[in-house]
Amino acid sequence: MCGIMGYNGSKNAIPIVIKGLKSLEYRGYDSAGIAYFFNEKIKIIKEKGRISELEKLLNNDNSNLCIGHTRWATHGKPSKINAHPHMVGRVTLVHNGIIENYKELKDNLEKEGYSFKSETDTEIACSLIDSIYKKNNDILETLEQIQTILKGSYAFLIIFQQDKNIYALRKGSPLVLTQNELGTFVASDIPAILEYSKKFYFLEEGEVAKLSKESITFYSKKNIINKKYNTFNYDLTTAKKNGYSHFMLKEIYEQPKVVKEFLDYYFENFKLIPDISKYKKIQIVACGSAYHSGLVGSYFIEKYGHIEVQSYVASEYRYKEKFIDKDTLVILVSQSGETADTIASLRLAKEYQATTLGIVNVIGSTIARECDEVIYINAGCEIAVATTKAYTLQVLTFSLIAYKLGVIKGNIDNNLKDKIKTDYLKLPQYIDDLLKLDYNNLTNKIYSKKNVFFIGRQLDYYSCLEGSLKLKEISYIHSESYPAGELKHGTISLIEEKTPVVSIVTDEKICEKSISNIKEVKSRGAYVLLVKKSNILVDDSAYDDKIEIPNTFDLVSSILTIIPLQMLAFNVSFKLGLDIDKPRNLAKSVTVE
Ligand code: F6R
Repeated sequence: MCGIMGYNGSKNAIPIVIKGLKSLEYRGYDSAGIAYFFNEKIKIIKEKGRISELEKLLNNDNSNLCIGHTRWATHGKPSKINAHPHMVGRVTLVHNGIIENYKELKDNLEKEGYSFKSETDTEIACSLIDSIYKKNNDILETLEQIQTILKGSYAFLIIFQQDKNIYALRKGSPLVLTQNELGTFVASDIPAILEYSKKFYFLEEGEVAKLSKESITFYSKKNIINKKYNTFNYDLTTAKKNGYSHFMLKEIYEQPKVVKEFLDYYFENFKLIPDISKYKKIQIVACGSAYHSGLVGSYFIEKYGHIEVQSYVASEYRYKEKFIDKDTLVILVSQSGETADTIASLRLAKEYQATTLGIVNVIGSTIARECDEVIYINAGCEIAVATTKAYTLQVLTFSLIAYKLGVIKGNIDNNLKDKIKTDYLKLPQYIDDLLKLDYNNLTNKIYSKKNVFFIGRQLDYYSCLEGSLKLKEISYIHSESYPAGELKHGTISLIEEKTPVVSIVTDEKICEKSISNIKEVKSRGAYVLLVKKSNILVDDSAYDDKIEIPNTFDLVSSILTIIPLQMLAFNVSFKLGLDIDKPRNLAKSVTVE
């Protein structure tokens, strides 16, 4: 949800900020802009579209201070006028977030004589800052005051005419800062500033950072504070394409490696997998694919731990009647660790005194910092908007939690324990084998269709939800996932000649039921792509094409089933010539409600 970047130092800031914004483009890409000091004046250049469009407008200007923005529109359509930065009076800023009380602020500012060029909430915030600053002429005091007035979420980078510093403050949306001998840097996310240092400061809510050419000063309530930096040895290669045509493809192909590293690390440090056996009530809260991983997690924990688990979409959870108490474990799943609804759910769970456990990828992110306990999935940077390797590792995390739980509770005996472990150890190779399959034929059967259905039961249904989301979000083909038994309660009426139905069958206990459902759609003309475990026998006449995954325990097969569906989604989108890494209307990190 918008990426922002600022630099103040001895080098030309414009190319530095443009480069940083490019690495943040996954957060939004409908318009972009920069503001910089030139001949003692602030100059703004902005454009609708990608950063590449903005670059066409750049000249040879040289400036030591620049702030920039890549937008995912919230208030006001994507357009040049709505693009950031916005300038009002002596104040110029970029903003990531949503100002919720913009209407009331606008009415008051209009009474003061302000008028607005854009449709954005950001221009209103900019006017508010200008109005307060005009009255007190004190930057820090102004920034303190606005924090008591603004409602919603924001990460601001602000520059003031005649003051050669960048000011940063935030609520909800993240900001990370660093400095080196070249100057000071601030951005929405680490990839933008990764090449400048391995030491990062995370700005906390209520703090203000002032970035001069040489140093960063942090303030809390106008008093200077000392902040400790965090050192991360990020692998720079995970933020680059490394010869792949797309980040998504690279991230799909990274799965054998990250899965192996994850298993090696956590089997070696098994105590880092939390023992959740003491909880009577467990709730899993997340959004999108992370929510799907939570559904798989709830299945595993119920099956191997015999504890009832509810999984919730975070945007629903935060407004529902709460049944949380101090004996409840609330598990928050998030790749970015910055998803607004998941953060709000975490804070609510804490208000009710639940114990909170985060399953997070981005180190030092808000969810990682605020949860009582965190498991890092260590997927490295995931840049493609559609998640692949992070989802796989989220499922694997739940798988290990349930495995440990099963062992502790005696539901997995020693014999079974070793067999499951053998499956885990073979998992990277199994994934690799599935990546090597030829997906061309299957792609050809699907890419020209208007609707695709995914069906499965239990665990397979949850994988179907993820497979369906993957396909629709990057190919724009409408797709739905259904519990296989549910189709004939209405949706089967949509099945016609050659309608693709992707069906997953991995559970021996209920495979007969699923196979019957497959036959029901096949006999109505559907094209059936079957993804099944190799030991499950299905009559050839029941399907058109099949992908077989090795016969493993469900703690492992639930990861294998998603791999071909990721590949299929990628290949369909590729064949359609779409922008796979940056699908329309989407952004990677959803930091607004
Ligand atoms: C889909 C996808 C999204 C995210 C969701 C949650 O491919 O990536 O559905 O899973 O927006 O994001 P995080 O995990 O960052 O909280």
